[in-house]
Amino acid sequence: MRTKLREIFGSDPLQWMGKEVTVCGWIRTARGQKSVTFLEVNDGTTALNLQVVIGAEIDPDRKLLPLLTTGSSVKIRGSLLQSPGKNQALELRAEVVEVIGFCDPARYPLQKKEHSFEFLRTIAHLRPRTQTQGAVLRVRSALAMATHLFFQERGFFYVHTPIITGSDCEGGGEMFRLAPTPDNEGKAHDFFGKPAYLTVSGQLEGEILALALSDIYTFGPTFRAENSNTSRHLAEFWMIEPEMAFADLEDDIECAESYLKYCVRYVMAHCKEELSLFERSLEPGLLARLEQVISHPFARIPYTEAIDILKKAPRSFVYPVAWGVDLQSEHERFLAEEYCKKPVVVTDYPKELKAFYMRENPDGKTVAAMDLLVSRVGELIGGSQREERLDVLEHKIASRGLRKEDYWWYLELRDYGTVPHAGFGLGFERLLLFVTGMENIRDVIPFPRFPNHAEF
Ligand code: 4AD
Repeated sequence: MRTKLREIFGSDPLQWMGKEVTVCGWIRTARGQKSVTFLEVNDGTTALNLQVVIGAEIDPDRKLLPLLTTGSSVKIRGSLLQSPGKNQALELRAEVVEVIGFCDPARYPLQKKEHSFEFLRTIAHLRPRTQTQGAVLRVRSALAMATHLFFQERGFFYVHTPIITGSDCEGGGEMFRLAPTPDNEGKAHDFFGKPAYLTVSGQLEGEILALALSDIYTFGPTFRAENSNTSRHLAEFWMIEPEMAFADLEDDIECAESYLKYCVRYVMAHCKEELSLFERSLEPGLLARLEQVISHPFARIPYTEAIDILKKAPRSFVYPVAWGVDLQSEHERFLAEEYCKKPVVVTDYPKELKAFYMRENPDGKTVAAMDLLVSRVGELIGGSQREERLDVLEHKIASRGLRKEDYWWYLELRDYGTVPHAGFGLGFERLLLFVTGMENIRDVIPFPRFPNHAEF
């Protein structure tokens, strides 16, 4: 039976002392000395490598040695013993060594210890084997688990909304359209009888389900055809969208703050090795920053006040600031990183800046919107209370030049037993940037899609 390295490193080393185990993995480094060979083996289940010691008696005529190369896959049986080295408590004294798949060192691209993230992006089939990528992927898995635990513990139901959709939720014209398909005679036609798109958000369908089940959340792939070649945008990303019936903007903000804190706490408890790796190699001070996030209430600023703060900021911005302009990443980061020095929720944006579905405030100028801004990333969450008044919504749809017929079902939800409701969307990859200290969103999703890039 194979033992995963996570089992060995995840418990008290004393418990493993003297135990016979079989481990499998890929060689990270190999050092052949006169009578003994040292391997660093990793199986992707933990950030830590297992040191394997192969004595001369295992390989008396040195036939094995040339096969023990970086990248080769191996299966090793042996005993775990106390290590005299200062880097690890345990090492594996090999008794049987099997090379499962040889890896030619003359051609294998992952030879060096450190490769640039740009280079690694060109070999997305191999980069998950690197220490940093492995750690990112394990944190990604943990954050998915934290998401389900948080919402399930609060009584939310996990629902699935369609990936192919006919409705434009955000109204930004950033949808990927499905190409017409040939019919039996080879003539191109719209498969669904009308134009169809990849979804930009599951929110509208999520509202349908919340207005039947009370509290729901979606967690799925989302697509935006915006030509944003930035370190914060992807053409395909994952979004978590809770939607709550009988809830207002306050409930929405409370849920968003609790959810983010839950995620950070969960990763701090379950991904210690990964976080200390990021702290060492990516962002000194990461753990202190995360500790800050969970131990203080988030700041809150209405949009109008945020504009005043930005106008008085002791620095200049590339994009000028005035009431009515959308906040740019530089403004968002200033507010979170420098002014508040913690996550900040900006509320009540001008209605012209936001989507048609947001609830209009009594001032007639702003809507009950909220964006959660954090350091390094800027906007991590966008949400709002939804317009539940039929007449107001009808008016909004008309005034934006949208077609009432396209939203007939959305309007009927307001006609048949309407209730106040609210929700938000969190970009999963931006959460990963925030928690890991990684700089580029293309490095926190295994197969990134962005303009001119859809490899694999
Ligand atoms: O602010 P957005 O566009 O909100 C919505 O889609 C709403 N329907 C959500 C809701 O209320 N249910 O997107 C929500 C979040 C952003 O805050 C950001 O974190 C992320 O999704 N996001 C992206 N992440 C990566 N690449 C992109 N191109 C993104 N666009 C948005």
